[in-house]
Formats: sequence, structure tokens, C-alpha cells
Amino acid sequence: MKVAVFGLGYVGSVTAACLAANGHDVWGVDVDTAKVGPITEGHSPVVEPGLDELVAEGVTAGRLHATTDPRLALDGADVSLICVGTPSTSSGSTDLTYIRRAVRDIAEAARMVAPPASGFHSIVVRSTVPPGTVDDVVERVLAEVPDSGDFTFGTAMCPEFLREGSGLADFYDPPFVVVGTRNPKVGTALTDLFGFLPAEVQVVDVRTAEALKYACNAFHATKVSFANEMGRIFRYYGVDSREVMRIFVQDTTLNISPYYLRPGFAFGGSCLPKDLRSVLHLARLNDTDLPLLAGTLTTNELTVRDVVDRVVAGPGREIALLGLSFKTATDDLRESPSVELAERLIGKGYNLRIYDAIVNPSRLVGANLRHVRSKLPHLQRVLTADPVEALRGADLALVSATDSSAISALLTTPPARTIDLSGRLGTEVEALPGYEGVGW
Ligand SMILES: NC(=O)c1ccc[n+]([C@@H]2O[C@H](COP(=O)([O-])OP(=O)(O)OC[C@H]3O[C@@H](n4cnc5c(N)ncnc54)[C@H](O)[C@@H]3O)[C@@H](O)[C@H]2O)c1
Repeated sequence: MKVAVFGLGYVGSVTAACLAANGHDVWGVDVDTAKVGPITEGHSPVVEPGLDELVAEGVTAGRLHATTDPRLALDGADVSLICVGTPSTSSGSTDLTYIRRAVRDIAEAARMVAPPASGFHSIVVRSTVPPGTVDDVVERVLAEVPDSGDFTFGTAMCPEFLREGSGLADFYDPPFVVVGTRNPKVGTALTDLFGFLPAEVQVVDVRTAEALKYACNAFHATKVSFANEMGRIFRYYGVDSREVMRIFVQDTTLNISPYYLRPGFAFGGSCLPKDLRSVLHLARLNDTDLPLLAGTLTTNELTVRDVVDRVVAGPGREIALLGLSFKTATDDLRESPSVELAERLIGKGYNLRIYDAIVNPSRLVGANLRHVRSKLPHLQRVLTADPVEALRGADLALVSATDSSAISALLTTPPARTIDLSGRLGTEVEALPGYEGVGW
């Protein structure tokens, strides 16, 4: 393919050199001659191990070129990869000026040069941009340019995951290759371009691809701060937290794993809230702030409050709550966020009927019966043994229960509105009119 790469910083120069090494005819474009000059002379414009050699090879082989003139790059090109900077503004928003400019440069250059043989050109954002940028910025700029000659454009987001300092190794071994597009031709072109990489090319919704990069970086930042907060508190207790974390990461079931990373409702139960409070208490004893962990409790609280607010903002006073314990397959009600939710809604005067497969009036015995009777007497009155019974006459269902009886009750007795707190209700329930995910 002929590939134009806009922006020859860390991402663009690595991408350009690696694609040239893979046999493509690559034209790098930058507005800054300090980036273009070194490449034309066979050097890397940025410090990145191994890149100097790869640039030299590409230039010598005649497969890698650099220019300030977008027309040279666009002439007959199949794909443009936009790798320009997307810095923060003073308010923290993302400055998309360079993205707009690059898209405009592409569209205007296309008017003056020959299209590729297919006539079709993929414009692909590799820079990190907020969800909606391809739809609302890239597409809009293209629509504003009146004439792009014989080029037909398709757009996509394909985020880059390399780290500076290991850019080449990361480029060749990415965690995933994700192409967000609704244009199948762009999906095919990028599958051809990146198909040589070890990760499978996943074609997804544009906004998913845009959000994914932010999710990754927010998580990475959280990991760093988490490890640092562990160090900052436990050092007062003579603990070497490097050793703690060395062992911590060996748990690939719950610690370093997909577990606990599905959006849904608040955490709860007999351990997480209590133990988080203990760590925060240790911090207070030592005059140490742990804002990440304190913020974790705040976020959890906001998750419950958000659902209460959504209920209050909607119509109806009859509510079915399906699922009461903090997770499925347990009858432990201690610090269940669903109990908290129920108590707040009852406090606001809503009529609740609650169904839980395990916390069931007919099954409540021993310690749990005593717990419900002593701590939650008001909930005992509204517990039903049957999900259909809970749903009868309900305006709204709040659902964390995922057992088959709850699902089939929802399908046979659907309320006007369902808020899914679990994300595991299945496609049939999600297709019901009035379905809302708690965070999707
Ligand atoms: N640096 C990283 O490790 C990394 C990793 C993944 C993703 N990203 C993202 O990739 C994007 C680029 O990052 P970077 O670190 O390579 O940026 P950078 O600042 O090193 O390079 C950006 C380049 O774009 C050029 N440019 C600006 N407008 C242009 C235009 N209209 N036409 C051509 N060139 C233009 C600039 O002159 C500059 O050389 C950012 O969105 C960044 O968030 C960066």
C-alpha cells in the first residue's frame, strides 16, 4: 500500500518506519522541518532505541520518505494515518486543532493529486482522541471541504498503544489491534495493513476504539497510584511494599485479571468496604492522605446515588428490586449496595417488592433470618419468594439478579422501565423496551 503518515513525532515516526520495513511505500508528513529533515537524511527525528537504524534502512530502500507537502504523500495513497499531537488545554479538554488541520490538509491535497487505483482512501486517527472525535470532528471537517477530487473517503479510529523507549518492540507486539469504523472498506484496508501483527485485528464501533485508549491510560495511571499508595501507608508499619506487590501480582485470578473490571453496580459485601476503611484509618493515624482509595469509596457511593437519582427523575412509584445480596450465589447481606439502594428508595416513599433467589423468605433460616429480622426488619416485609410477584404492577425494575427465574420473569412480565445493574441479563432482556444499563 501507499501510506501517508501525518505527524512524525514518537508515534508517527515509529509507525512510518515499521510500515516501510514491512514493505509499504510510506510518506511521512510533518509541518515541522525539524522532523522531516532528519528522516530525509536517513535518521530518526526522535530518540527511540532501534529507530535510527530502521529509518536508515527504509530511506535507503526507497520505501520511506518525509515531506512537508501533503500532496506528495496523498498522491495515489490508500491510507492516511493521523499521528499528530492532541495536547491538553488549560481546562483539561483535548485540543483537536492539529487533528482538524491534518484532516483538512488531507482533503485539500486530495483535490490536487491522483487517487489510488481503487479511488478509496482510508483516513485513520492513531492519535488519542475523545469518543465522538471521528464522527463529530473528522467527518465534519471532511464535509466542510467542498471538493476532494476523485477520492472517496472512509474514516476510522485505530489507537496506538506503544510506549516511548520501547516503541519498536511495542509496535510489533501490541496488546490489541482495534479498528473503530462503520465502513467495511476501511476495516478491510486496516486488516490488510496490520494483519501481520501477532494480535488479531478487532473491528469495533468507532467510539469503543476511541474510549479504549483512555480506559487503558486511566487504568495504568490508577495502577501506579495504587502501588504508590500501598507504599506510602505500609512503610509506617515496617513493610516493604515492593515485596507485597511482587507477591500481589502473582494472583492472576482476582488481582491481575479481567475480574472486577466489568462496569456494573457498586462493590459491597463483608470485606471490600470494611478493609478499605481499615486502610484509610491506618492512613489517618499516620497523617497520610490516600486520595485514590478515599476516592474509591466516594465513587462507590456515587454509583448508588446515581441510580437513586435516575429513579427519582423517572415516573412511577412501584419498584421491583430483583437481587438483594451484593453478588449472586451468596446470602450475605452485609454492606450490600442493593440493600442500601432499597433503604434509600423506601426512605423516599417508593413502594418496593424485593426478590432474591437466595435471600428468599421461604429459605431464610438461622443466622440470616436473625440478621434480616434484627437489621433489616423493613426489608423483610417486602421480600417475595417469586420474581413474577415482585414485578406485578411495577413501573420499574432494578435488576442485579441474573438467575434464570429472574430473567424469565422479566421477559414474561416486563415493566415499563428496567435498569440493569449487572450487565449480565442477556440480549433478550436488553432488547426489551425501556431497558437501560447502569453504565452503558
Ligand atoms: N508518545 C506516546 O508514547 C504515545 C503513545 C500512544 C499514543 N500517543 C498519542 O499519539 C499522538 C501523537 O503523540 P506523539 O507523542 O507522537 O506526539 P508528538 O508531539 O511527538 O508529535 C506530533 C507531531 O505532529 C506534528 N503535526 C502537528 N500538526 C500537523 C499537521 N497538520 N500535519 C502534519 N504533522 C503535524 C507535529 O509537528 C509533531 O511533530 C497523541 O495523540 C498521543 O496522545 C502517544
